[in-house]
Amino acid sequence: MKPVFSLTNHNLRSYIYHYLIFAINHDTLIHGFIILSINVIPFRTLRFETASDSHKMVHANASNFAEGVTKDEAYTQVLLQAEGLFEGQRNWVCNLANAASLLWHAYKSLPQPSNQVNWAGFYTLDPQAASSKQQLILGPFQGKVACQTIAFGKGVCGTAAETQTTQLVPDVERFPGHIACDGDSKSEIVVPITVETEGNGEKARKLVAIIDIDCADLSGFDEVDKKYLEQLAELLGRSCDW
Ligand code: SME
Repeated sequence: MKPVFSLTNHNLRSYIYHYLIFAINHDTLIHGFIILSINVIPFRTLRFETASDSHKMVHANASNFAEGVTKDEAYTQVLLQAEGLFEGQRNWVCNLANAASLLWHAYKSLPQPSNQVNWAGFYTLDPQAASSKQQLILGPFQGKVACQTIAFGKGVCGTAAETQTTQLVPDVERFPGHIACDGDSKSEIVVPITVETEGNGEKARKLVAIIDIDCADLSGFDEVDKKYLEQLAELLGRSCDW
């Protein structure tokens, strides 16, 4: 297996953009350069060639997040690395599993309350359920074992699925019907993943999965989390075969 470097124009643009953001935020060009070299460049540019070259291996270092970065920077890295991982890979199990890992390690690199995230993962549309009684089924995640199915309209996840809108919940105790999978969870954000469908000449959006993040602190999430998780949902929606 030999490493192959392939710096595309897109990689280069991403590199320069993120280098400048880090450099400006940390008030030092050297610091920005070092952080990016460790975290972004190896991931975006390094591929491992196999005998058949029929599959890609990514290195575990891809989920390294530097300590001391801001939430904007951590999420930007999640999106950049997710985009890289999804190139040439449209299997939703594979992509959701890697996305859960990226999110988990990003939160753990951030200060409180983000580092108190105790569950990060996905529920997908259950293909076994009747179309008249839609439900979600547990997908790839990081954290403790969780409820296996959730009916549309139930709890935070089911509400996000039914309404196709993000649910930002500062205190889960105050959310009617909240489902307590993990007693440690105090706040939660759930973001729908949808894809465009067309029937009878009309376009609509179909719910395919939800992103669910729980935090052991109250008010663990804000508009910054919502903005980036919605971008991740959009990326996942168009990057997988659902
Ligand atoms: N709390 C969620 C259930 C899923 S777990 O948090 C992983 C809800 O109310 O829908």
